[in-house]
Amino acid sequence: MEEIEVCVCKRITLSEILQVIDEEGIKELETLIEKTKAGTVCKMCISPEEDPYGERDIHLTELLK
Ligand code: FES
Repeated sequence: MEEIEVCVCKRITLSEILQVIDEEGIKELETLIEKTKAGTVCKMCISPEEDPYGERDIHLTELLK
């Protein structure tokens, strides 16, 4: 199965992000960005607001809900 890349710039997959959220009990966006480095380049993967043209399928804020 092909892995979904949440952060295309840093090549971080959905399962990697979910694992970090789970293992570290992350609730805050800032912490998630700091730990994974996802969202540190173009920032479009952070939230739908940062991605006005819908170029990313999934965003960090949606994974923290
Ligand atoms: S896709 Fe995550 S910073 Fe660009």
